[in-house]
Amino acid sequence: RWRSELRRKLLDWFSVHARVLPWRSDPTPYHVWVSEIMLQQTQVATVLPYYQRWMESFPSVAELAAAEESELMRHWEGLGYYRRVRSMHAAAKKIMTDHDGRFPVDYDQVLALPGVGRYTAGAVLSISSDAKLPVLEGNTQRVYSRWIALRTSPTENAANKLLWELATRMLPRRGSGQFNQAAMELGALVCLPKQPKCDECPVKSHCRTAELQLQSEIPGKIKR
Ligand code: ADE
Repeated sequence: RWRSELRRKLLDWFSVHARVLPWRSDPTPYHVWVSEIMLQQTQVATVLPYYQRWMESFPSVAELAAAEESELMRHWEGLGYYRRVRSMHAAAKKIMTDHDGRFPVDYDQVLALPGVGRYTAGAVLSISSDAKLPVLEGNTQRVYSRWIALRTSPTENAANKLLWELATRMLPRRGSGQFNQAAMELGALVCLPKQPKCDECPVKSHCRTAELQLQSEIPGKIKR
């Protein structure tokens, strides 16, 4: 009951407040993959011009696979974490040789691509193909931790396992891609690390952290 109500409120909010982003207008697996790799460690505003230039130069997996590494590096300059771009190049080559140039739709095959972990595989397949797969990254770690007032750091093993389970249980039968994007968007726009905008939150009434006024303590810090 509460789950379907929370989902509906979140999705209604997303339908109004979703940012217009280039990869959202045509969410092919390739578009979503490139955007999600760029968004790891990098803000949306920074990614936008890089994404545009990337798609002009490498509009498909085939062009990416055939590109010179130096050319890819030139497109990546300023984004940092250059391992990401080397992995993407290797993944594109693997897609050409192992999958006939078509981005795989099988979860294990996507997970086997260089640089693709559980998060990226879930994001690509849920957003592009509406596969019922969870995502858990910085935004959703914070959002889900706050919903259940989880006081331990989301990166601790037990907490991480619990959050993946929650992320899975929350998924609707249809529309997992929308749900995942809505949860990430809530984290990016409303459920901020510092001073979350709870007054603007569509799911405040379902949030244990808001109820207990523990926003500044959750998500918990890493203990050493
Ligand atoms: N951050 C990383 N991926 C995202 C996505 N698909 N939507 C919103 N924020 C994100």
